[in-house]
Amino acid sequence: MTAKLCRVSNTPLKQVLDFGKQPLGNGFLEKKDFANEYFFPMSVGFSEVSMMFQLLEQPNPEIMFHDHYAFYSSTSGFMANHFKQFAEEVINSGYLSKTSPFVIELGCNDGIMLKNFASKGIQHLGIEPSLNVAKEANKHGVRTRSEFFSEELAETIVKEEGQIDAFLAANVMCHIPDILGVVKGIKKLLKPTGVVMFEDPYLGDVIAKTSYDQIYDEHVFLFSALSIKYLFGLCDMELIDLQPQKTHGGSMRYVLAHKGAYPVKNSVPEILAKEMAQGLDKLETFDKFRESVEQSKIDLVNLLKDLKAKGKKVVGYAATSKSTTVLNYCGIGPDLIEYICDTTPIKQGKLSPGMHIPVVPYETFAANSPDYAFLLAWNHAEEIMGKEKKYVESGGKWIIHVPKVQVL
Ligand code: TYD
Repeated sequence: MTAKLCRVSNTPLKQVLDFGKQPLGNGFLEKKDFANEYFFPMSVGFSEVSMMFQLLEQPNPEIMFHDHYAFYSSTSGFMANHFKQFAEEVINSGYLSKTSPFVIELGCNDGIMLKNFASKGIQHLGIEPSLNVAKEANKHGVRTRSEFFSEELAETIVKEEGQIDAFLAANVMCHIPDILGVVKGIKKLLKPTGVVMFEDPYLGDVIAKTSYDQIYDEHVFLFSALSIKYLFGLCDMELIDLQPQKTHGGSMRYVLAHKGAYPVKNSVPEILAKEMAQGLDKLETFDKFRESVEQSKIDLVNLLKDLKAKGKKVVGYAATSKSTTVLNYCGIGPDLIEYICDTTPIKQGKLSPGMHIPVVPYETFAANSPDYAFLLAWNHAEEIMGKEKKYVESGGKWIIHVPKVQVL
């Protein structure tokens, strides 16, 4: 039990999992910065009122999203394709007005999705607080405002540019502690026929796959359809469609509108019923989840120690934010994983948050294949294993920890 309150319903949260002291998921650093490395106590709680699964404490957003934010969306070909498709689905959804539609994306990152609107001359605006990635978006012809979204900013935009047809976000809404403030802003921004379409890693998949690595500083919430229904219901808005996605190891796209504006698609009652059957409204479900997470840690550490004892060379593949939780929670450092290779230039040459495993360019992996590669970007398994066939042909093996720890 804890006295912390749910950020949405303001009722007491029940703690369900404690990860101990954790660094920032994207806090890749240099040796000279070790003394000032930031850690926070990371634990998650659940509200039986809002059904929101959420961090009990979160670092200040300014500490996480800044002008040297290390995550660039366009590092994955699969994701670039996904966002092109997302944009096309929005354009063809029938929800946009026929004449001069206006679309806003929250957290547009390097413009991976909005560039698909910009190239068609559709009025758009990206709201992106991390200036370095916003500048990258500008290079793709995407118009941005480098600010945090709020009800006040929504009012300013309505005054300056009018109301909008669609409010989009991908892997962003779950980052925002004052999510109710954002929904209040959206309510003001949307035309009477406007829609919200956003997607985030899905709690249903996290529970089903024990993918606890989706829990890190940036993900203040992991949403379900039940919790989103509650949240938007507070502002007289409703779910009109739900579309499960493969991205991030299992995401959900939520489509919402002002209450009564559109018919509700069958996907909504179907997925809500599935979530009730999965127990996403019950505290006991998260007790079972905790047991699965603890077992996963034991299995992973045993496997890596066993490989080390056998003299095998083990490295990490992709320095994801997710991996920060796994490596720190399981206490896996450079003694068990020699390095992590990654294609993101600003991560290379740095050390992983908390456990200080060296991050090296992808070429190091390609030039000198290890015996085992721990796939830290397991959500990109299809793409990565597809392009690393030679590694396997030359005897290399993959370690994966989701849905269970195994060697492939
Ligand atoms: P992602 O799962 O999006 O990370 P996060 O947990 O941070 O959301 O993976 C992106 C990271 O993975 C990024 O650091 C680049 C790296 N990566 C590679 O190094 N090689 C690859 O082939 C892919 C797809 C990603």
